[in-house]
Amino acid sequence: MITDKIPADLQNTWTTVDDYINQKLIPSDPVLDAALTASADAGLPQIAVTPCQGKLLHLLARSIGAKNILEIGTLGAYSTIWLARALPAEGRLVTLEADPKHAEVARANIANAGLEDKIELREGPALETLPELAAEGLLPFDFIFIDADKENNIGYFQWALRLSHPGALILIDNVIRDGAVADPNSTDPMVQGVRRLNDLLAKESRVCATTIQTVGSKGYDGFTLALVVS
Ligand SMILES: C[S@@+](CC[C@H](N)C(=O)[O-])C[C@H]1O[C@@H](n2cnc3c(N)ncnc32)[C@H](O)[C@@H]1O
Repeated sequence: MITDKIPADLQNTWTTVDDYINQKLIPSDPVLDAALTASADAGLPQIAVTPCQGKLLHLLARSIGAKNILEIGTLGAYSTIWLARALPAEGRLVTLEADPKHAEVARANIANAGLEDKIELREGPALETLPELAAEGLLPFDFIFIDADKENNIGYFQWALRLSHPGALILIDNVIRDGAVADPNSTDPMVQGVRRLNDLLAKESRVCATTIQTVGSKGYDGFTLALVVS
């Protein structure tokens, strides 16, 4: 069934369980908390990954020993900080953000986290900054997190393939969209962006991919994980 809206009691349960998991496994972190507070105070949309999701990104990047990480969609750098903390001493992370105000807040949050030496934030539409990375030879990346405008998912994924190597992981966020992804008649450009990417994934032999539906404090959504195999 494709949900029009989530019943309040169900959403409350998901939020309560997320709170419980955070309390047990993800202790309050002054730097990450400050990044969220500064982002909210600056009026940025509160659409960062949740703590559980941020930690999942961190664990995935750490588990493959990622040394070079690419993020498309920085917002206030909340997920960026989670990911950068997975890097070894010599590791680096490039994050791409189109909105100058988001970039400004993110830079301050990155500085507050003491991660300026590891993180490079490139400002501008990602479909313009991605070719720059290729032209400058800033590749390959071991872990790529796609979390920007969903309409351009297919373009980002194609760039991710060009900028990665066999063994790299590509994670694409917000691919369920309250279940609307299963609706072939959806006119939502973001849903259409996800569906176009799924059509491509279905026939792309260079990756092995799956999608996981998720619930939590941010509602009902999900992510696609793709391993570059050749
Ligand atoms: C969902 S938010 C990213 C959240 C962030 N990854 C986190 O979890 O903390 C999406 C971000 O992508 C940015 N964005 C939208 N279109 C973009 C584009 N064409 N190029 C680069 N960034 C874009 C938005 O300005 C926004 O800051």
